Amino acid sequence: MNTQTSVDFISQSPDQTFLVGEHLGTLCQGGEMIWLSGALGCGKTALAQGIARGLGIQGSVTSPTFTVLKEYQGRLALFHFDFYRFEGQERAAAIEFADYRRDDAVCAVEWAEHAADFLPDEYLLVKIGVVSPTKRALQFRPRGARYERLMQSFQTLAFRP
Ligand SMILES: Nc1ncnc2c1ncn2[C@@H]1O[C@H](COP(=O)(O)OP(=O)(O)O)[C@@H](O)[C@H]1O
Ligand SMILES: [Mg+2]
Repeated sequence: MNTQTSVDFISQSPDQTFLVGEHLGTLCQGGEMIWLSGALGCGKTALAQGIARGLGIQGSVTSPTFTVLKEYQGRLALFHFDFYRFEGQERAAAIEFADYRRDDAVCAVEWAEHAADFLPDEYLLVKIGVVSPTKRALQFRPRGARYERLMQSFQTLAFRP
């Protein structure tokens, strides 16, 4: 399903991907689910690091590939998941995951496709494609009214002078 508030953007650098993530984090109000999808090394963690900055989280945010979840506290909490190793274990992931959908937190989930069976009805999907060593195609696809509103604000903040 395409929506009018879908956003497509070519990021020219890691810094630009971070900045786009920061804008997104700035606009989060709590309870957001952000699914980061794309190949290894496409920039999911880079975007999540920007989201963390936008949530007012200080210090370094690193990939939770081996721990599945890392938690940070800023203006809101950030639950940063990485389901890379969860392929075929969706059920276990679903049980753990439900507890983290809270109004005072944002969930950023890498490798959401490994947990496709329990995607919530509404979420923001960010698909990242590798265009060249330094360019990434970012596709923001909102699912649900609150995420469409989030994308409208995001377009204004990130892309309009
Ligand atoms: N435009 C860009 N946006 C994001 N990352 C980029 C970009 N260009 C190059 N890169 C590089 O791609 C890699 C992305 O790594 P990372 O964010 O850990 O990916 P993932 O979490 O998807 O595996 C980093 O080495 C980063 O420097
Ligand atoms: Mg990563």
